Amino acid sequence: MLEDKFPSYRGDLRYHCLGCQKKYPGLELHYTCPDCGGVFLLRDHNFSELKKIPGEKWRFIFDARAGSRINALRGIFRFYEFIAPVVEEKDIVYAGEGNTPLILASSRLQRFVGQKLAFKNEGQNPSASFKDRGMACAFSYLQRLIRQKGWDQVITICASTGDTSASAALYAAYVNGPVKSVVLLPQGKVTSQQLSQPLGSGAAVVELPGVFDDCMRVVEYLADNFRVALLNSKNAWRILGQESYAFEVAQWCDWDMSGRVLFIPVGNAGNITAVMSGFLKLKELGVISSLPRIFGVQSRNADPVYRYYSQDPEQRSFVPVQVRPSVAQAAMIGNPVSFPRVRDLARRFEQEQGRGFFNVVLVEEQEIIESMLLANRNGHISCTQGGECLAGLLRARESGLVEKSEQAILNATAHALKFSGFQDMYFNNSFPQGYDITPREEFMNQPRQVLSPEQKKSMDAQEFTRTASQELVRLLGLKGN
Ligand code: F0G
Repeated sequence: MLEDKFPSYRGDLRYHCLGCQKKYPGLELHYTCPDCGGVFLLRDHNFSELKKIPGEKWRFIFDARAGSRINALRGIFRFYEFIAPVVEEKDIVYAGEGNTPLILASSRLQRFVGQKLAFKNEGQNPSASFKDRGMACAFSYLQRLIRQKGWDQVITICASTGDTSASAALYAAYVNGPVKSVVLLPQGKVTSQQLSQPLGSGAAVVELPGVFDDCMRVVEYLADNFRVALLNSKNAWRILGQESYAFEVAQWCDWDMSGRVLFIPVGNAGNITAVMSGFLKLKELGVISSLPRIFGVQSRNADPVYRYYSQDPEQRSFVPVQVRPSVAQAAMIGNPVSFPRVRDLARRFEQEQGRGFFNVVLVEEQEIIESMLLANRNGHISCTQGGECLAGLLRARESGLVEKSEQAILNATAHALKFSGFQDMYFNNSFPQGYDITPREEFMNQPRQVLSPEQKKSMDAQEFTRTASQELVRLLGLKGN
């Protein structure tokens, strides 16, 4: 019997700058390197201690903790030692994040695609997207700072395409006390559901004209010059929390990642960074023996990472792009903050496992929305970004980059309901210019009105029931029993 207690291991986390390679202690909140402005990844300098425990023992520990009764270990901190082993039990914020299900695609969808595939339903997190994983970690670290430094006021701030803000506002509202949440949104470029989330959580919501990249520059300016806590994935504590996605996928696959291929939509590139970093950790510690293959997916209307990787490897240069309207609006980002992290980790991924273990594919807007509709017509709850993953898989199959024998795991990063406005535009054929989407009859669906309000007014209840039923019998071609 494994004792159900909070882990005793403590790490020595330090910021590593990916620009100039300088290191800084993890005791303060840094976003970018004070010396060169580069982005950070956090590394545990006690990592060799973790290596003394065999992979098999780690697997046993994590499997046992899946049934833990300790509140702090019920979410992403089930993998405490691999995430942020500097926070204490009392610092940990658990709002129900993590443990999202990996749902096998319906047999009809698997037949259609011609291979085994599953969706990881990140929309089943508390704010209905994967962002809660990173936010739980960032807020736990923040709680530690508040406790140690005795801060009586902390303003958290983020730019967002809608989901980071929903998550940040939710966790800030939960932690409360000295924490006040401010979110910056590109006006008219988050869905109404996403907008309602931080408003409902009581955050200060600020709208700016422009796109996400414009908002990001403003929060970067504020974070560089004023006392605010930045909650975008530039904050490396967010990345640590999002690594739990990789740990959960591995655990669900019984710690065997050979022959698995993961699809991840790429926007600000924090998520794909975290997933690669997480799997590399598992491999280094012998928890898994093979890495999965990773496919980033981008829309043609926001494709800077795809463009970079489609260049000759010897002469690649990164150039931000001006984004155009995309149904994968949450990933509509032209200058991803985490790009240097992706470059670093993709190189390590291929060094570790070989060529073809990191790829980026490009998909069209039409493919994204129709793949989402296809998934959801098969009993899934995918958002447009999850649709982007399915479109990416279909593309990769078509171009011979993925074998029929591989098992695909698609990241449905948010709940379908957050993006129902794009579904409405498809069903009503009302896309504004710039989307390049032509709805097709086979995917359309509309409510059918039976009886008008005037007709109902002229009937008593009995007559209404009989007439409406008869209309339905006619409409559906029902036969008597
Ligand atoms: N899917 C969803 C639902 C998202 O909200 C995001 C990013 C992505 C995919 C792309 O992930 O940025 O880590 O590469 N949303 C951020 C936000 C940018 O502000 O909510 P990424």
